[in-house]
Amino acid sequence: MTDIHLKVFRYNPEQDEKPYMQAFAVPQEAGTMLLDILNHVKWQIDGSLTYRRSCGEGVCGSDGMNINGVNGLACITPVAGLKQPIHIRPLPMMSVIRDLVVDMKHFFEQYRSIKPWMQHQKAVPERETPQTPQQREQLNGLYECILCACCSTSCPSYWWNGDRFLGPATLLQAQRWISDSRDEAQDERLDQLEDSFKLYRCHQIMNCMEACPKKLNPAEAVGQLKTKLFKRQS
Ligand code: SF4
Ligand code: SF4
Ligand code: FES
Repeated sequence: MTDIHLKVFRYNPEQDEKPYMQAFAVPQEAGTMLLDILNHVKWQIDGSLTYRRSCGEGVCGSDGMNINGVNGLACITPVAGLKQPIHIRPLPMMSVIRDLVVDMKHFFEQYRSIKPWMQHQKAVPERETPQTPQQREQLNGLYECILCACCSTSCPSYWWNGDRFLGPATLLQAQRWISDSRDEAQDERLDQLEDSFKLYRCHQIMNCMEACPKKLNPAEAVGQLKTKLFKRQS
């Protein structure tokens, strides 16, 4: 059987002057998903290759990377459909800590800024707060986000204004909490988003939707937030 050929971005700031692409050849039987192939490189060829992964099945969101120019999760990307050599790089425009590991601190600070937890103005109920099936349905397409950052790091507006624009992932999460019938801080949440940079730097270019490995539509969520703010003014 022929080998699978890859070229992987390498950069160890402690010893490399600059990043470079390293070629590897991995036997076909190493596995069917790209993460299997990276694991083979790490475990059998070069233990210094560094990347994040945990669940191995598209749930934890930790192995977001740029695969042949497109962001995705290595664990749910079949090798069979990829042109070779497979070029694997870190998520675009993120600061590289080492090889495929990028600094997610700012991304998660932005996520925390939207207060991604249930807020009660009145006393916290002793029992759970019920929802009707229709109310629960409002969360579909939002709650499934695994915060892999594939969308935000494919968004040109986020590349250029990521310090102040919250980006598609965090905005989709904001819409998730604003759409939750049990939450009592909708107005405060909308107040926080009413800002020319935080929300309105989205120009509906739709890269985010194409990049999402969970097939979510952050651009639509951003549009819904804009509509809610518009309705509130009128
Ligand atoms: S639709 Fe908005 S959030 Fe999505 S990629 Fe385009 S500018 Fe970014
Ligand atoms: S919306 Fe999709 S691409 Fe963006 S962080 Fe969530 S799961 Fe990842
Ligand atoms: S390893 Fe968890 S999503 Fe890929």
